[in-house]
Amino acid sequence: MLKFIHLEQIDSTNAYLQRQQSECDIRNLVVSADEQTAGKGMGSNGWESEVGKNLTFSLALEVNFLPAERQFLLSKAVALGLIHALDTLLPEEKLHIKWPNDIYFENRKLAGILINSTIKANMMDVSIIGIGLNVNQMQFQDWPTHPISMKQITGKEYDLQPLLEQVAEQLLIKVEQLKSFPAAIEQDYLKRLYRYRTWADYEVDGKKMRLFMTGIDSFGRLQLLDMDNNSYCFDIKEIKFLI
Ligand code: BTN
Repeated sequence: MLKFIHLEQIDSTNAYLQRQQSECDIRNLVVSADEQTAGKGMGSNGWESEVGKNLTFSLALEVNFLPAERQFLLSKAVALGLIHALDTLLPEEKLHIKWPNDIYFENRKLAGILINSTIKANMMDVSIIGIGLNVNQMQFQDWPTHPISMKQITGKEYDLQPLLEQVAEQLLIKVEQLKSFPAAIEQDYLKRLYRYRTWADYEVDGKKMRLFMTGIDSFGRLQLLDMDNNSYCFDIKEIKFLI
């Protein structure tokens, strides 16, 4: 059973749960906010969202069945949970997971995921799964990710609370599935992976490269081939998608 808390304003819902972790049991707690004053994105980026227009929330789950070295599996399960919740509301064939775990609608970013985990004796412990989903916002700054919202796609206004509950439930289901069917998560992730088994342009060390995406290794690194069949493996900071 998930428990929901809604805050009007907070620095970051991930940071809030991280602070709460030493005070109380945060497992299965979902914290959402109308406004984050210091929302965090991947890397050292921030996360911007117009007040009260989008879903910005974090969910704390116990994932102590997962070895720390396999933590990218959690990232896959979370991206799949989010995309499955969206499949029921948006044209499914246009929704993809852009490695490592952004949700894209065609070539534009619809949602981002930030996971902060604690590790105990080489096993995962509690993970704080932060989701930023663009829902009703109609204008965005000109970010390189070309953000888009659900309302921009369908023209509909969405009630945030039922949507939050639907998404959080799907996340829980997919993380549960990870316990018994990790292979299914691996397969489903590849089925929805943006640019999987296609040629596309990337930037590596400031140089444009045309590469063919072949998969993801067990550490979550992106695997690609060039025209001469040389293989490459990249971490998040080492490659940029040219979109
Ligand atoms: C990304 O850069 O793609 C990840 C964005 C994650 C944003 C969400 S919004 C709710 C939660 N709290 C944060 O501070 N960040 C995550």
